[in-house]
Amino acid sequence: MSEPTQADFGEESMQIRRLTYGDLPSVIAIERRSFPTPWSLAMFVLELSKPSGICLAAEDENGLLAGYLICARYDEVWHLMNVAVATEHRRRGVASSLIDRLLAEAGPDSRFTLEVRVSNMAAIAMYEQIGFRSAGRRRSYYHDNGEDALIMWFANERVRAGVA
Ligand SMILES: CC(C)(COP(=O)(O)OP(=O)(O)OC[C@H]1O[C@@H](n2cnc3c(N)ncnc32)[C@H](O)[C@@H]1OP(=O)(O)O)[C@@H](O)C(=O)NCCC(=O)NCCS
Repeated sequence: MSEPTQADFGEESMQIRRLTYGDLPSVIAIERRSFPTPWSLAMFVLELSKPSGICLAAEDENGLLAGYLICARYDEVWHLMNVAVATEHRRRGVASSLIDRLLAEAGPDSRFTLEVRVSNMAAIAMYEQIGFRSAGRRRSYYHDNGEDALIMWFANERVRAGVA
């Protein structure tokens, strides 16, 4: 994985770097404020332990965790499994920057998929802005309220060009 990168977010400066086990208390705090059914600590530990995965952190100028992203690889496809940003850092491009970094890390031959609640307009708008496109639904995918999941896909440049 490449070195941490510095990015400007308006008046803020963020660093995108690898997510570590030491980030997990902050991850859990953001996770609990971000999702109706948050992931457990054990789920994050499992994903971080997979050598094939890409797990990223966005750190603010005070060294505090602003957001994170978890992506796992199954066969030839990357599954974007979790992305969340602390409420006070939202709408400043943090999640988009995490995903941009993921696309760069995964390489030009990569395909990505994800599931998102059909009611999660903020996330759907963000994924569409990046270039993800919807490809159907999984009915009653979320056990807490029976909500459908929208399935979204994205292909990196060489796949789109028909080379990979
Ligand atoms: C979805 C989420 C990750 C977006 O993070 P973020 O850092 O605020 O997103 P960005 O600033 O990169 O937004 C990029 C674009 O997405 C869209 N977007 C993001 N939040 C939006 C909102 N609340 N309403 C409408 N559009 C939104 C906009 O097009 C935005 O571009 P703009 O600010 O120039 O208009 C964040 O709202 C979050 O953590 N939500 C709770 C967890 C969650 O739902 N995760 C996704 C699970 S699939």
